Amino acid sequence: MKTQPSQDRIIIFDTTLRDGEQSPGASLNVDEKLTIARQLARLGVDVIEAGFPFTSTGDFEAVQKIARSVGTEHGPTICGLARARKPDIKRAAEALKPAANARIHTFLATSDIHLEHKLKKTRAEILEIVPEMVAYAKSFVNDVEFSPEDACRSEPEFLYQVLERAIAAGATTVNIPDTVGYTTPSEFGALIRGIKENVPNIDRAIISVHGHNDLGLAVANFLEAVKNGARQLECTINGIGERAGNAALEELVMALYVRRQYYNPFLGRAADSEEPLTNIDSRQIYKTSRLVSNLTGMLVQPNKAIVGANAFAHESGIHQDGVLKNKRTYEIMDAESIGLTENQIVLGKLSGRHAFHTRLKELGFEMADDELNKAFVKFKDLADKKKEITDWDLEAIANNEVHQAPELFRLELVQVSCGDKSRPTATVTVRTPAGEELTDAAIGTGPVDAIYRAINRVVNVPNELIEFSVQSVTAGIDAIGEVTIRLRHEGKVFSGHSANTDIIVASAEAYISALNRLYQALQSNPEKSSEQPTQIGNQVVAKAQR
Ligand code: KIV
Ligand code: ZN
Repeated sequence: MKTQPSQDRIIIFDTTLRDGEQSPGASLNVDEKLTIARQLARLGVDVIEAGFPFTSTGDFEAVQKIARSVGTEHGPTICGLARARKPDIKRAAEALKPAANARIHTFLATSDIHLEHKLKKTRAEILEIVPEMVAYAKSFVNDVEFSPEDACRSEPEFLYQVLERAIAAGATTVNIPDTVGYTTPSEFGALIRGIKENVPNIDRAIISVHGHNDLGLAVANFLEAVKNGARQLECTINGIGERAGNAALEELVMALYVRRQYYNPFLGRAADSEEPLTNIDSRQIYKTSRLVSNLTGMLVQPNKAIVGANAFAHESGIHQDGVLKNKRTYEIMDAESIGLTENQIVLGKLSGRHAFHTRLKELGFEMADDELNKAFVKFKDLADKKKEITDWDLEAIANNEVHQAPELFRLELVQVSCGDKSRPTATVTVRTPAGEELTDAAIGTGPVDAIYRAINRVVNVPNELIEFSVQSVTAGIDAIGEVTIRLRHEGKVFSGHSANTDIIVASAEAYISALNRLYQALQSNPEKSSEQPTQIGNQVVAKAQR
């Protein structure tokens, strides 16, 4: 068992797999969650909130698998979320059993607006339930976190009482969520200071913060909280999460690193101390960001701090000139510090399976034999088209081949005819889950539209395409293009991703990958479906619930 980290460094609690996964369309399957959890462990997060086990069998399984394979003795603590209800807490405890270091995170709202309209409970009732449920969680694990949901809109005196009772009942971490992203930095700092000064037993617990980015203030709020005593930050990769998202891990970590001389004294250190403020290996940041973006289909905006495509690019002549003379004129951190290395050529046409496998392992990809075989075929195919293969190409291949949606429908053929004097026409052959090969063709406004129409004729699941984007992995005319699409079916969003040197093929594959997620959701939810069944390929599936 690990001991509780001391108060003189910042604990990074990653909730990409729980709050992050609540972003519309970001839903991940169990294997994808496991892949992300492994990468979060490499990144060095202290706690992984792996899911909300009571909500679905998929979430339960994901938490259990992550607990088993990532929650090792020296690995991160694995956490499961539970409402302050016995069935939720018990389910979380069951899922977390295989973890060497397990945490149950239970929550109950404390703001009047939530009490009156959502919970229909009085303050007196909340003061009874909280210690009872914390003690119940404590009967399963030692490490219990309690969150008063909507803390920032709760009356401070009442909040202090709730926290005191939670700690008295055994909570080792008390988390202060800005659930609706309403607070400002100075208010949040004052709230944390108030908690430190007014909760009599606060020295027995770590103060944590959680916050949403509705006003774009989440990271600033957290940094002010650190100055006032918060020692755990709940954040997500790329800042994904409910509505406008959560505080972004990469921004917090790099702010604490780049401005360490400013923050050190707030943690009782000398300003010039070089002891890291977090446990994060910042060179893993870029890779983790790309992985999460690829698997969730949540694109990173180019101007996003730290991990956006433009974060280290200098466009203006004056800036370029300055950087060439001395990087520090316009750069406050090195691209290398987040793992954005020179895009070196690493492999070529003559490289064998062993070299390919070795480089992927060096890049942190662990693959089963069948996945490796598939990836190697893709690599050879790419090496035929593109002489020089870089790390970024390898990452695109690995992310694409290994962590895909279940292969229920498979694209067997896509052919397009288009040009300025012809009407874009696509022919596709798709293998259905029942093993039948169906071919159809369609005309569209452009080649991609024609492909989607042709696939729709075969697959026959009504859906609305809400996002289509193509990004180039490397520079050059022979670069791999990554296509990300998001589609909506009955209010639910599903994403698909694919990488190929031919963006027409990537578009078709990305669409099929999103349809596979949609199809899987329809299959796993038939009993909750609405009235009319849907004909998919040659199968009839009940409609998924909104
Ligand atoms: O935003 C929130 O309040 C939450 C809690 C469950 C911590 O996500
Ligand atoms: Zn949240």
